[in-house]
Amino acid sequence: MSHIVVAGSINVDVFLDVTALPKANETIIGKAMRQAIGGKGLNQAVACAKLGPPAHMVAAVGDDALAPQATAFLAQNGVLTDYVKGMPGATTGLANILVAEDGQNMIVVTPGANGLLSPGDIDAASSLIASASALVVQLEVPLATVRRALDVARQHGVLTVLNPAPVDPAAMELMRLADLVTPNETELMRLTGISDVSDASLITGLNALIAAGAKQALVTLGSEGCAALMDGALVRLPAYKVKAVDATGAGDIFNGALVTRLVAGDGLLEAMRYGCAASALSVTKPSANACPTPAEVAELMAQQPQIAL
Ligand code: RIB
Repeated sequence: MSHIVVAGSINVDVFLDVTALPKANETIIGKAMRQAIGGKGLNQAVACAKLGPPAHMVAAVGDDALAPQATAFLAQNGVLTDYVKGMPGATTGLANILVAEDGQNMIVVTPGANGLLSPGDIDAASSLIASASALVVQLEVPLATVRRALDVARQHGVLTVLNPAPVDPAAMELMRLADLVTPNETELMRLTGISDVSDASLITGLNALIAAGAKQALVTLGSEGCAALMDGALVRLPAYKVKAVDATGAGDIFNGALVTRLVAGDGLLEAMRYGCAASALSVTKPSANACPTPAEVAELMAQQPQIAL
């Protein structure tokens, strides 16, 4: 098993804790502010590094005071940063995140340097991608950059995992380059036009991703677990039961954990179960990359063996 490459975003996350999420045109008083390092790419890379083989990021930061904090955070969490590029004159990506008492969140991302990560930066890392076990991408960097990363990986037979978040309907053209696509339910609805999460709708939605070219498709369903198409039939895995404190980044931890098991040789359902356990533990702590240790994941899976395959 070789390394995993995550080509994606790095953000500084500014969390505002609130009692309940505001409605449009409403002003509310927050409870606390905290800052952390995040970004869908970074969170997924941290999960890969903590739970599996070495993980590298191909990413961009600004030339501001936040950039060294972000790269130091990656290094502290075991993610290799040789292809994290400082973009002159750019600010590091920023995410403003409201987190309510029930653990739900709202996020606004200002891409900054993430928006400057180019297909040329992917080409510069092509030998790293070509020798990887898996490439993981999201949609917080330009679509052309994501496409080039998937192209390079596909040319070299590297497993490609596309997490289409935040959703962009134009990403349907990337499905042909994805071995596995992993939307959440909202993203699946926006990509495919389904309007609910009934079995029939999920089958329709996941089949649409496969018809567009993805080899396999799953959907994460928050507190309802996740589901995938297996030989045309929908298989649902329930969520592990935990007390949620902050659901931010739960999907990222799911994706990172899932990929570590796929490259280790697990089947899709086994890898999804592992991803569910890791993401369940991540929501019991604040921050978007509160990734558990392999021992903690194993303990939860042993404690709640009802999620059998
Ligand atoms: O998925 C959670 C992440 O979304 C946060 O870390 C934030 O940076 C945004 O990218």
